[in-house]
Amino acid sequence: MKRIAVLTSGGDAPGMNACIRAVVRTALAEKMDIYGIERGYAGLINGEINRMSTRSVSDVIHRGGTFLKTARCPEFKDIEVQRRAADALNAFGIEGLVVIGGDGTFRGAKDLSDNCGVKVVGIPGTIDNDMGYTDFTVGFDTAVNTVLGAINNIRDTMRSHDRVALLEVMGRHCGDIALYAGVAGGAEHILVPEMPYNLDDIIKSIKKSALRGKVSNLIILAEGAGDRQEIIDYIQKHGDVIVRVVDIGYIQRGGSPNMQDRILAARFGSKAVELLRDDSESCAVGIRDNKVITVPFNEVDKVKKKFDEKLYSISRILSL
Ligand code: ADP
Ligand code: F6P
Repeated sequence: MKRIAVLTSGGDAPGMNACIRAVVRTALAEKMDIYGIERGYAGLINGEINRMSTRSVSDVIHRGGTFLKTARCPEFKDIEVQRRAADALNAFGIEGLVVIGGDGTFRGAKDLSDNCGVKVVGIPGTIDNDMGYTDFTVGFDTAVNTVLGAINNIRDTMRSHDRVALLEVMGRHCGDIALYAGVAGGAEHILVPEMPYNLDDIIKSIKKSALRGKVSNLIILAEGAGDRQEIIDYIQKHGDVIVRVVDIGYIQRGGSPNMQDRILAARFGSKAVELLRDDSESCAVGIRDNKVITVPFNEVDKVKKKFDEKLYSISRILSL
């Protein structure tokens, strides 16, 4: 393959720029032409396609977000729209595509490959870490560390006032951000969609810990694990405590990628280009036991995401 393109799609994640850089520079090293597509599948169907050089990716490795921009493009589920995307690639003579995004992006990639014969390689880029076939996705580690920074600050002020805080974090249906940040930040309670919880038990535990002299408690609530307001109302009403709520929202999705995400981006980006260079079948790249792996798109959804219940049970002992 001599001419390829790269796009970012779905929610942005720290390390996407580092990944684009890895794709561009590996392609140029392999004497391939490389194009950047703006705004994900939306830009692809509109022909927002530009030739890239090594200078196109100067000074981006440390920046969060994605300079190619990203978009949600619901109409991409339509096969006619997918055909328009394939036509746009053909018009530029582009033979292969690298997509960086989450599970939705990969479903689009599979369709483009199955329905239109385009060779596509998917790189997992999302803060949610919700893709079962890979141990980690680009952006997760940075997001967890951003949450951890917030936890450190919240602890300082909550402890000073003997208060209970509830911090809501992102993750869609996946509790990994909450679990990892909660364990690393010493949260007393971690509420995730994967594990049942009982608010009366949490109230009991807050009261018991007060008897032992622990007057400040931190609850981490993963998005998807319950309605924040209902939880706060219940704990305040039945626990006789004031709960302060913190939602750091998009702060955890932006920011400079850390070492782990930049290294992951470099390894994934380089592997994706090698696969296209060798005319391999469409697939997703991932990492398992610190080894870069490839998995066909139709296998990706079949590997169910496993929640780390062992780490969760450790968190319950350590937070006493
Ligand atoms: P993420 O990739 O982070 O999971 P989304 O779920 O928003 O983010 O998906 C990104 C884009 O992928 C969507 O806006 C759409 O263009 C495309 N996509 C999602 N699901 C499908 C599908 N079932 N078929 C085709 N394209 C899809
Ligand atoms: O997938 C990344 C993510 O930040 C999720 O954690 C969250 O549910 C969603 O995207 C928010 O999406 P939007 O950008 O549409 O608010």
